[in-house]
Amino acid sequence: MNKSDCLCRVCSSTISDIFDFGNMPIANNLMPVINDTYTKNEYKYNMKIGVCINCSSLQIVNVPEKELMFNNQYAYFASQSEFMKSHFEKLGNKVMQLMDKEKDYILEIGSNDGIFLKYFADKQYKHLGVDASENVVETAKKNGVNALCSFFDEETSIEINNKYGKAKIIVITNTMHHIENCQEVAKGINNILAEDGTLIIEDPYLLDMYKIGSIEQVYAEHNFIWSLHSYKTLFEKHSIKLFDVEHFDTHGGSMRYYFSKQNLNKTSTMQEYINLELNNKIFDINTFIKFQENCINISKELYNFVVSKSKEGKIIAGYGATAKSATTLNYSNIDKNLISCIYDSTPFKIGKYTPGTHIEIKDAKLFTKDSPDYTILFAWNHKKEIIEKEKNNKSKTIWVEYIPKLKLTYEN
Ligand code: TMP
Ligand code: ZN
Repeated sequence: MNKSDCLCRVCSSTISDIFDFGNMPIANNLMPVINDTYTKNEYKYNMKIGVCINCSSLQIVNVPEKELMFNNQYAYFASQSEFMKSHFEKLGNKVMQLMDKEKDYILEIGSNDGIFLKYFADKQYKHLGVDASENVVETAKKNGVNALCSFFDEETSIEINNKYGKAKIIVITNTMHHIENCQEVAKGINNILAEDGTLIIEDPYLLDMYKIGSIEQVYAEHNFIWSLHSYKTLFEKHSIKLFDVEHFDTHGGSMRYYFSKQNLNKTSTMQEYINLELNNKIFDINTFIKFQENCINISKELYNFVVSKSKEGKIIAGYGATAKSATTLNYSNIDKNLISCIYDSTPFKIGKYTPGTHIEIKDAKLFTKDSPDYTILFAWNHKKEIIEKEKNNKSKTIWVEYIPKLKLTYEN
């Protein structure tokens, strides 16, 4: 066990153990070209993750500057997945029931390309999206969404409050775990959430990550992996209380958390998950150590597979130039010499190269024609959607999954 002298950003206790991934690029920093200058100057940081056994929060201990991660070149556009669009449409319908259309407005922090707020814009609900990356904000605006480009902090919350007043609903999906200064966000939310308002947060769930050994849930942008206990610790300090949760299979297992400033009755689902976390020993350092062992095994298994197929002369490609695959590829030393290319449908990603491993990203439309022998499903969380789509396109390949274990699926 590697003791650390770092303090937990949630509860200020000492981080108990460190898992060192070595030098990592920023997962979404795709390279426009590969040449000596670009390669030499590629930004890398020493990625170490740690767990706090006081509040159970898992976090990156030295997070790169936020401007290096969220800027006008942000590569993730959430609307690429039809499934996620419908997931957020359902949440939108639920939230609209809680709002008085004439009086209330909804604030979304991390509104990305407008995937969620678009439903509110289309139905003329008052809304505001805040996102730190200019290029995704521009796309949201083109989708008719009222969006502001800014990091959300205390100062921004005061500006928003002055202009729009208190928000009845605040939604933060797949974003809270991106934010290093979680205390500042909680302060900002406290400023701006109406007394009878609801805060809804959704992001990857710690227990799922532990369960499937998902090595790649962590990268610079995912600098926290949260649980009920760690979120409770954070928000109770700011007088915001958790009262309900909902679990989803999205992104390898996600939790949706409902908070209020009021003392609402806690639901039985929330109590069940509190107990589940305790029964699964999220406060026990051995749970984190077991997770590390799992990650190392997954990485070795994938590397050995790729090397052996490459020696046989097989063409191995990837599908989904996901941010999380940057962790797997860099940690496992799988680079452009082993993988021919990665297919992806995001226009911004096509023609660029993966960070650190410099694998070309090709338009997913070329997948059927190219027909690689093996295709590693890096976007494994969108498995159903991708495999069905490619089956309809009559693609022939052997799909390779690697989480929680290496698994081949023959579609020929
Ligand atoms: P995510 O796992 O972080 O959501 O990233 C998924 C990546 O996979 C993203 O770059 C978009 C890409 N993708 C496709 O290329 N085709 C698809 O059908 C889906 C659902 C995603
Ligand atoms: Zn802590």
